[in-house]
Amino acid sequence: MTKEIKNICCIGAGYVGGPTMAVIAEQCPFLEINVVDINENRISLWNDPDLTNLPIYEPGLKKIIKKCRGKNLHFSTELENNIRNADMIFISVNTPVKKTGIGAGQASDLKWIEACARQIAEHAIGHTIVIEKSTLPVKTALTIKDILGGSVNKDYQKKIGQKTFSILSNPEFLAEGTAINDLKNPDRVLIGGEDEIAVEALIKIYLNWVDRRKIFTTDLWSSELSKLIANAFLAQRISSINSVSAICESTGADVNDVALAVGMDKRIGPHFLNSGPGFGGSCFKKDILNLVYICDHYGLNEVSAYWQKVVEINDWQQKRISNIIVKNLYGTISGKKIGIFGFSFKANTNDTRESPSIKICKALLEEGANLYIYDPKVSANQIETDLDKKENKLELTTNNLEGTWSSSNTIDNTAKGADALVFLTDWKEFQHIDWSNIAKVMRSPSWVFDTRSICDLEKAKSFGINIWRIGFSAMI
Ligand code: UDX
Ligand code: UDX
Repeated sequence: MTKEIKNICCIGAGYVGGPTMAVIAEQCPFLEINVVDINENRISLWNDPDLTNLPIYEPGLKKIIKKCRGKNLHFSTELENNIRNADMIFISVNTPVKKTGIGAGQASDLKWIEACARQIAEHAIGHTIVIEKSTLPVKTALTIKDILGGSVNKDYQKKIGQKTFSILSNPEFLAEGTAINDLKNPDRVLIGGEDEIAVEALIKIYLNWVDRRKIFTTDLWSSELSKLIANAFLAQRISSINSVSAICESTGADVNDVALAVGMDKRIGPHFLNSGPGFGGSCFKKDILNLVYICDHYGLNEVSAYWQKVVEINDWQQKRISNIIVKNLYGTISGKKIGIFGFSFKANTNDTRESPSIKICKALLEEGANLYIYDPKVSANQIETDLDKKENKLELTTNNLEGTWSSSNTIDNTAKGADALVFLTDWKEFQHIDWSNIAKVMRSPSWVFDTRSICDLEKAKSFGINIWRIGFSAMI
């Protein structure tokens, strides 16, 4: 027996909630889907009539929004009615690391999750399936269960009829930049929960486009933990290859060849082995810190120290890169112009959360550099917020006591008069830079620091530019 689902509500119209609901709406035109968010500005951007200002840049997303919005996909701030009408509610709100109090710096702040559970408890009617989509610490479902259970007040029940809930965990494995493809062709769909009827109802939705063999069901805690561990393993791979990049730079080996050779082993596999400026994004660091917190809580101190190192290597890699830039520019970058290519945490997204560019730019600013920052999708306002420093649109100043930064709209302007260019995000357009032109407009001696192995450095070198690439000694 399955419960028939007609109406879905998703709380949280962010990088997860927005694309996930867009794909469900497209694949299931018979479902009515309402995405709600407390942020009015974000909702009005989702409703932008000509779709030029969607709050999230994600390849393929605009097309689906155009097709489904206003038909079976709606964005609003109207929480109460949409909760009331929903047979199934997805919780996709953010769960940042706690800034203060118990577990500060490690544990997830669940205040938004709790707020959602309370709103659901208050406004839902009849039987509602509640699904954890946000990545959460293990056993968060218990908190949600407690709050929802507490709402089943006898007098109230008499008034509105029976009010019951089933809680499922259905973690999202999409990666930004490839979210639509990841959602349409998932490696697996993971569903945790005890209520078989609710689990079947969710499976039935996914079966509209996902092969049954890819849908894996388990208990709630295994599902919650699997998401944390998947992210921890992925991040660990990046810290591993980044630690190898430093060994390669010291010994003269090439990290890209090492990654290829190592990845040819079927047991290791070729993916996710690109050395770079360290991992960013909203999940990896937060999830590992959360794992560390859980391990400490259970007295597993060696295990927590093991995972903590993955984060430490990541911080170290970012610091290492800013130090290398300063060292190669004769130990001082005060008053020098440095072109920064890429500010998002990876290509094909406008998301800058935990982007390595933030720490690296801040370190260069502290050394007094004038940064010209170019990113095809990140706005100057976002950069200003992340760097916590006002943009300086004036001409370059030499002998800076304090660094300055300015956003740049073209590759040429970013390079004009620059002493060095630093490539921090793997945007495809950086592969096709016209180095003959760039060499002419830079100040000599000029440098390129390629932290993503994205540039044609042989070409750059042929025009007299000094080159440095991640995981390779300066001998090319
Ligand atoms: C997601 C996941 O949910 C998180 O657990 C994961 O680890 C990172 O990715 P994401 O979609 O990227 O979060 O977050 P974000 O883009 O910040 O979107 C969350 C949205 O929820 C925001 O728009 C926020 O306004 C909204 N929100 C938050 C609510 O609508 N109600 C709340 O009570 C809290
Ligand atoms: C990640 C997980 O991949 C996804 O399954 C989960 O749901 C959310 O967290 P995301 O953070 O969007 O997704 O992007 P991802 O592609 O995993 O990249 C994370 C960071 O690692 C980026 O900064 C990226 O540049 C970096 N990275 C990735 C590398 O440095 N090298 C690689 O080989 C791969």
